[in-house]
Amino acid sequence: MSRLSVANVSGGRTQERFRLADGRQHTSGPLAETTDALASRLRQRAELTPEFWSFSGRSRREGGHGIFAYPAMMVPQLQGALLEDVQAVDPTVSSVFDPFMGSGTVMLESVSRGLSFYGTDVNPLAVLLATVKSNAYDPEQLTHVRQKIAVRVTEDISSQIAVDFTNRDKWFRTDVAVDLSKLKRAISAERRKSVRQAFWVALAETIRLVSNSRTSTVKLHSYSPEEIVSRQIDTIDTFLRISASQIEQLKDQAEALSQGFDRNPDLTISCTVADARIVPAAKYRATADVLMTSPPYGDNVTTVTYGQHSYLPLQWIDPRDVPGMKGELLENTHSIDSISLGGRLKGSLESADDLCSKSPAFAHCLDQLQGRPRNAQTRMVAFVRDLDVSIDAILPRLRSDAWMFWTLGERKISGVRVPTVSIVRDLLVTRGARHVETLDRKIPGGAKRMAARNASVETMNTESILVMRGPHNADRGSGS
Ligand SMILES: C[S@@+](CC[C@H](N)C(=O)[O-])C[C@H]1O[C@@H](n2cnc3c(N)ncnc32)[C@H](O)[C@@H]1O
Repeated sequence: MSRLSVANVSGGRTQERFRLADGRQHTSGPLAETTDALASRLRQRAELTPEFWSFSGRSRREGGHGIFAYPAMMVPQLQGALLEDVQAVDPTVSSVFDPFMGSGTVMLESVSRGLSFYGTDVNPLAVLLATVKSNAYDPEQLTHVRQKIAVRVTEDISSQIAVDFTNRDKWFRTDVAVDLSKLKRAISAERRKSVRQAFWVALAETIRLVSNSRTSTVKLHSYSPEEIVSRQIDTIDTFLRISASQIEQLKDQAEALSQGFDRNPDLTISCTVADARIVPAAKYRATADVLMTSPPYGDNVTTVTYGQHSYLPLQWIDPRDVPGMKGELLENTHSIDSISLGGRLKGSLESADDLCSKSPAFAHCLDQLQGRPRNAQTRMVAFVRDLDVSIDAILPRLRSDAWMFWTLGERKISGVRVPTVSIVRDLLVTRGARHVETLDRKIPGGAKRMAARNASVETMNTESILVMRGPHNADRGSGS
């Protein structure tokens, strides 16, 4: 081990930074102590309970975590265990950032542990879900409103369909569309926005079940005409059942949130629609102690079509109640997916050289893709290019030496496994971050729900949690 430099003073104690024999940087002093303490806690969990990180049989989505079947959600208990471990080794931790927030799994786990939370997502439905999950609702009030909605629906004898969009009749039977319209009118009549938002989520989950799109895939995929005619659907009853169970879950959620506020009355929550590739102006930027996130596993078009999955519910929900909703996001079924990570393929190969210089794992994968269809290379590069741009935008939102937990899945494209875990690690190391540990887990029950399988893309049934420490402020590289 050769000495690299004598660096900063932290908490009154001088830290010495070293370059290890394998080229990694390491520190002595309090920073290294907390890093080592976390690594050993994480390892111990698996030593004491083999397959601990798989959370097999321990991943039930309880409390607000179960209010909507958003695709590729994280395991709440797993992220909760990671937060507890980081809080144990670093009691100064008080805030968490999730730039790819999805349904807000990390939000609820953070807030219930007394941590402030900042989250973003490009998909407004995700932000609506997270917003509802961040509210401590009064279950009695919700039960009362649910009864009022049931009465309004019974009294509504109109057969007018409340929404109009391309292919509406392909995705909804007329009787279903009439009942959804009654529900839409009944929810809209509720005075309080936050309460309407809770019922919009129940309506979204109802739509997932009663539309003509199969629930077995997250892509829009219609039942056959014969199946559509013969399906037994009671839309109103489905909604009332879902909203009743949702109220129970929101009751547990309110308790979890109030525990968090008891631990830290000053905690703040912010869930907004934003693109993780864009750095917000400094005045809108909070710096978090922890990054806990799970970016998509690949471009949304071929892996998980979050946008398509949200397209039908978003057609029915009043856009004024959906944070960040804009009409152009519903122009077609691909609009949200095309503004998501890896959604824009044009010009992506121009970034290949730069990415090769930052990531040996990327360079190796690109070599393996030589001779395969050009589209496979373009997709892989576009996705990594966007991840790289996101990292540039994410790091300024973190404190010096922030803790980072990246839950990452890998996929095969044209038969070649894209080593996303090594690529993200490389992209972070090139900016001065340090590797702490990689936790591998099997996904119980197989791969997360993906777009329909196709010949060119295959997703794995394992995922990894890449644990890193962010760059030290003095060392922040530009990444180039
Ligand atoms: C794996 S999911 C996150 C799931 C989440 N952890 C949960 O438990 O629900 C990835 C998310 O990244 C979002 N996303 C894709 N591209 C994005 C971008 N450029 N900026 C912000 N969010 C993006 C998707 O809409 C999706 O919600």
